Amino acid sequence: MERTLILLKPDCVQRRLCGTILSRFEAKGLNIVALKLLQVTPELSKQHYAEHVAKPFYPGLEAFITGAPVVALVLEGLEAIRVVRDMLGATNGLKAAAGTIRGDFSSSRQMNLVHASDGPEAAAREIALYFQPSEICAYQPCLTPWLKADDE
Ligand code: CMP
Repeated sequence: MERTLILLKPDCVQRRLCGTILSRFEAKGLNIVALKLLQVTPELSKQHYAEHVAKPFYPGLEAFITGAPVVALVLEGLEAIRVVRDMLGATNGLKAAAGTIRGDFSSSRQMNLVHASDGPEAAAREIALYFQPSEICAYQPCLTPWLKADDE
């Protein structure tokens, strides 16, 4: 099982798309093990987007991500990091394939609705940025026997 950090970004909250997008993750069989609404501060933005802080687009990205609340969650599942990235589609909503979340709901490179960790190291770092260990509720979904075979 893998865990990945997801942010439903300010555009997602403002556009009332959180329920629609959460239901895609639930329908896929991913398990929500942590979830909260919060306001990203400039300090948290710089930590989260450390690799982008020096890039020309960073000031606009920080203004965007701090401009309204986000919903942060941790999803758990087999190959969850890759599976969620595939569900999101390409970074730029104009280039994301139809049928992906960004392909269906975003027409922007910056306002691409959802962030998801891009690898195991990023997932561990980002989960620790947004959640205390005590805020993560591991549980066995009763649907598990209907979502995958025992040996998967
Ligand atoms: P995300 O997956 O959260 O990771 C970094 C974010 O920066 C990305 O989604 C976009 O919202 C944003 N981003 C990436 N590239 C650009 C760019 N060239 N111009 C503006 N925003 C960008």
